[in-house]
Amino acid sequence: MQSQQHNSHSAQGYLEGFKHFATQAIHEGQEPEQWTSLAVVPPISLSTTFKQHAPGQHAGYEYSRSGNPTRNCLEKAVAALDGAKYCLAYASGLAATLNIVHLLKTGDQVICTSDVYGGTNRYFRRVASEMGLKVNFVDCSDLKCLEAAITPDTKLVWIETPTNPKLSVIDIQGCADLVHKDKDIILAVDNTFMSAYFQRPLSLGADICMYSATKYMNGHSDVVMGLVSVNCDKLYERLKFLQNAIGAIPSPFDCYLCNRGLKTLHLRMKQHFQNGLAVAKFLEKDPRVDAVIFPGLPSHPQYELTRRQCTGVPGMITFYVKGNLEHATIFLQSLKVFALAESLGGYESLAEHPAIMTHASVPEKDRAVLNISDTLIRLSVGLEDIEDLIADLDQALSAAHPNIINRN
Ligand SMILES: Cc1ncc(COP(=O)(O)O)c(C=O)c1O
Repeated sequence: MQSQQHNSHSAQGYLEGFKHFATQAIHEGQEPEQWTSLAVVPPISLSTTFKQHAPGQHAGYEYSRSGNPTRNCLEKAVAALDGAKYCLAYASGLAATLNIVHLLKTGDQVICTSDVYGGTNRYFRRVASEMGLKVNFVDCSDLKCLEAAITPDTKLVWIETPTNPKLSVIDIQGCADLVHKDKDIILAVDNTFMSAYFQRPLSLGADICMYSATKYMNGHSDVVMGLVSVNCDKLYERLKFLQNAIGAIPSPFDCYLCNRGLKTLHLRMKQHFQNGLAVAKFLEKDPRVDAVIFPGLPSHPQYELTRRQCTGVPGMITFYVKGNLEHATIFLQSLKVFALAESLGGYESLAEHPAIMTHASVPEKDRAVLNISDTLIRLSVGLEDIEDLIADLDQALSAAHPNIINRN
């Protein structure tokens, strides 16, 4: 009876003749063939499956894990920004790392630069090495150390530049020349800190450019995602296969958000650079601070390499506050504009304590070698007004060191 009433509204539907309520609710107005609108903003394609003309004959998409229009739209944009032929998106930065490591087989060796994101360190040490890969942590900012670590089993060299949290800059071209010299080794660069706007690892000889898009690429701290760009057809085909076979893909909504974030990447990065430089200069002169590490300062040991290799630097600053853990804690708890939180690369300013937070999973002895000490603080300088950011840091340093006057 009810379905009779509803039938009267649907005479022109594409399912003429199929008039029951449930069928109408599911199909009326939904014909897949209609989605050719000229929407200027890319639509979010939530469909998990796509209609086929005949078995195996489809219009480019069959099932959303293997390919999705919103994801495809993002992947194309990122490939263009990286100067790459291809890009693939993943559920997180670590999911992207996992997919890359699946290119290897048991017994292969990975050389990972020693100062990497704590989660990457944990993945290589406690997951990949337990699955039969040999993992060596080596300081790749010293090319001689890298060269000495390469063996016939080496299949992947993993670098992150600038490193995290010590912000050392690694010579990408130098590493590429070394690992490609008569050898079949993949060079992967975690480009999370620099973003595609400031650094293009593929044009410097890397085989893979990888991101935690959770950071600058999306830039709004509301998406967890990974991205991988490559130029080599064979590498892409294998990674594309793994993306589907492993299944760690991002949702269409997250792809939409990240794609939207990319539209302001150039503007955001310029401002992060400007704000970061101003904060670094302020901290460098401050008597309550022992040392500042920022690749955009001439005092940085790889300042010249940074200028050669990158077109700017992001708002990432590492510094040692004077004193001990108590001073670092008071400083972090006194901040008002900077939020005490992990992560980086969003429009908002964040501060964190690597030894206790992001790098807690790095073994204590390795942290000691890297000098990730109790007084080391990492800042992700956001896009707020620079006067407010400096005033916030100033008052928090005063809270930590009430007896030291900053006369600068
Ligand atoms: C440099 C770097 N690489 C990779 C990752 C892992 O990315 P995700 O958190 O998106 O899995 C992070 C996360 O903080 C990171 O900072």
